[in-house]
Amino acid sequence: MNGIYFSGNGNTKHCMETFTKATDGRAVSIESLEALELLKTESEIALGYPTHYSNIPSIVKKFILQNGKLFCGKKVFIIVTMGLFSGDGAGLGARLLKKQGVKILGGLHLRMPDTIGDVKMLKKPMSENTAIIKSAEQKIAQTAAAIKDGKYPKDGLFFWNRLAGLFGQRLWFIPTAKKLATKLNIHQNLCKACGKCASICPTKSITIKDGKPVFTAGKCTICYRCANACPERAITLLGKEVLEQCRFDIYAKSL
Ligand SMILES: Cc1cc2nc3c(=O)[nH]c(=O)nc-3n(C[C@H](O)[C@H](O)[C@H](O)COP(=O)(O)O)c2cc1C
Repeated sequence: MNGIYFSGNGNTKHCMETFTKATDGRAVSIESLEALELLKTESEIALGYPTHYSNIPSIVKKFILQNGKLFCGKKVFIIVTMGLFSGDGAGLGARLLKKQGVKILGGLHLRMPDTIGDVKMLKKPMSENTAIIKSAEQKIAQTAAAIKDGKYPKDGLFFWNRLAGLFGQRLWFIPTAKKLATKLNIHQNLCKACGKCASICPTKSITIKDGKPVFTAGKCTICYRCANACPERAITLLGKEVLEQCRFDIYAKSL
């Protein structure tokens, strides 16, 4: 099966690449033009994204709504990555896709390392993170084998998952997520205006003007890609300083 994914820091990319390889397909990023090509030609597709406060990233929501006509009539399998818990991560995408005329084949929730690098409570030793990745890879292999027998998992697609996502997370965190999307902190004392953040931001929310980075609120999808890649550790969102840069390519070195 071919797959389209959004990945802020590489976790979802890795999971989608592992899944598509195991199901004889290929994975393409939502940010590339190939994503639309795949959507036009495939009748069955996997869609992957990370959960953000048990919600669907705004960039993915926009992609689905903007391409509703292309999605119409397709069969979609949803893959969601998470740090710990996502009640209905796949369910959110499923409900949105159904409105576009999509048939949902199933949902897969995969626990991966957390990517919020400026909150101490969420940090884990490298050995724990690599164990988490290996266990996700195992779950993907089992799922791919089951799919070949026509059996799709239904993670996050039941009504009780929706209640868990709503009452366990969204009700409390929607205001936080909205606020975060408007308040990326670029610490001017640390920033050397190298422009890396501007070049990698998936929503082009950062630009370099007169030798200084400028954040434009409104489109940020709070993925943490800029904070986890800045060479000066000059970008924070939830916390005051970057304690660890959480990217899949760093964890992959210890696999
Ligand atoms: C702003 C933000 C909010 C998050 N909220 C949740 C959450 O509610 N539940 C959870 O289990 N993981 C949460 N995570 C963790 C990510 O879903 C997880 O690390 C995911 O695998 C990241 O994928 P990526 O590397 O493809 O961006 C959150 C991460 C970010 C950056």
